[in-house]
Amino acid sequence: MDHFTYRDGLLNAEEVPIPLIAESVGTPFYVYSTATLERHYRVFEEALEGTDHLIAYSLKANGNLAVVATLARLGAGADVVSGGELARALAAGVPADRIVFSGVGKTSDEMREALRVGIRQFNVESEPELEALDQVARAMGKRAAVTIRVNPDVDAQTHEKISTGKAENKFGVPISRARQVYAHAGALEGIDIVGVDVHIGSQLTDLAPYESAFTKVAELTELLRADGHDIRRLDLGGGLGIPYQRSNAAPPLPFDYGALIKRTVGHLDCEIQIEPGRLIAGNAGLLVSSVIYRKEGEGRDFLVIDAAMNDLIRPAMYDAWHDIVPVREPGSDQPVAPVDVVGPVCETGDTFARTRDLPLMEAGDLLAFRSAGAYGAVMSSEYNSRPLIPEVLVNGAEFAVIRERPTYAEMLARDTVPQWLHRP
Ligand code: LLP
Repeated sequence: MDHFTYRDGLLNAEEVPIPLIAESVGTPFYVYSTATLERHYRVFEEALEGTDHLIAYSLKANGNLAVVATLARLGAGADVVSGGELARALAAGVPADRIVFSGVGKTSDEMREALRVGIRQFNVESEPELEALDQVARAMGKRAAVTIRVNPDVDAQTHEKISTGKAENKFGVPISRARQVYAHAGALEGIDIVGVDVHIGSQLTDLAPYESAFTKVAELTELLRADGHDIRRLDLGGGLGIPYQRSNAAPPLPFDYGALIKRTVGHLDCEIQIEPGRLIAGNAGLLVSSVIYRKEGEGRDFLVIDAAMNDLIRPAMYDAWHDIVPVREPGSDQPVAPVDVVGPVCETGDTFARTRDLPLMEAGDLLAFRSAGAYGAVMSSEYNSRPLIPEVLVNGAEFAVIRERPTYAEMLARDTVPQWLHRP
């Protein structure tokens, strides 16, 4: 469910026609809907109703300050994985005691900063990290609240690059060794064990892997309690998938995910934390682009558009599908024909879709990629010296640019030519 619909023949973001934004900021650009962001956050709130819980929005999906501030206003916490994301969460108004710090490679500097501002917890992923955190905390005269991320060796049945809960993945400590690691943590003065953490992957389209992971976490919790640890919080990660292709079966609903959580870990009387990213931001965003050329190839046609893999890398990186729709509503009798939708970057990988059935579009026509609000703008780059594209947030009939497109001069100004190259 989103708020991008056709009105009077044009695709709108809430009450704003997309061509109006295109005229104002130029293409390509990202546009997000406040109403969709809010709705998706509330869907999780409703799914966990009746439990003591925190929804820690995963900033990696979309860390724009305006997006995070929209969610912070509703009471969201934040899941961060770097000092930069920590700074963003704080700047957007997420209270420090609602911020959890995940990630396999936290540096001592990042730990120090997180302890200084007083975050809620660290999700620790290894024994060396535990020792580093203990040292940093003791040097500051503090104790760090910690969950240990366990790797439950569960196949999330998602793309291999975003599957994280199998034994061969770099994440967490093997669940088989968890009691040992907790015993180690329990002996460290700078560490305050508060719970258990798990995250098995992203874009999960089936609840079964969650069921086995959460069941394993519940069993572990009982064992850890028997070992004398005060386990009072369970962080169950993120990962719930979204429908990228409207013609496919819909992934499980947050409500059913919430019911599963209650069924598998509800009896433990722990505070529940989840870290959704994609489900909140994904379908709240479009990438809007213009057709530059329609080009005839050998046996196939290409639509060359002004967005490229540097703006949205998911198709190149994960063979991801994004629905592509014309901004001008096609008539029901308008024929469709297969085209390859490609960007201007000098790589064959810069292909968004192959033989996609689309209504005829010509140079200058606008098109939109759906489900581009998560892992879109945040993963973009300036490859081929294509400046980062603007992000726009719509709220009802209003819209605002929430990240400007840099000028070429601004882009170049970040480089410095060393002094010796100025010498004759
Ligand atoms: N928590 C942890 C520890 C994570 O590693 C992730 C995602 C999340 C939460 C949020 O997961 P979500 O609810 O968004 O699925 N760039 C890839 C996705 C990478 C996900 C990485 N971790 C993509 O475009 O599909």
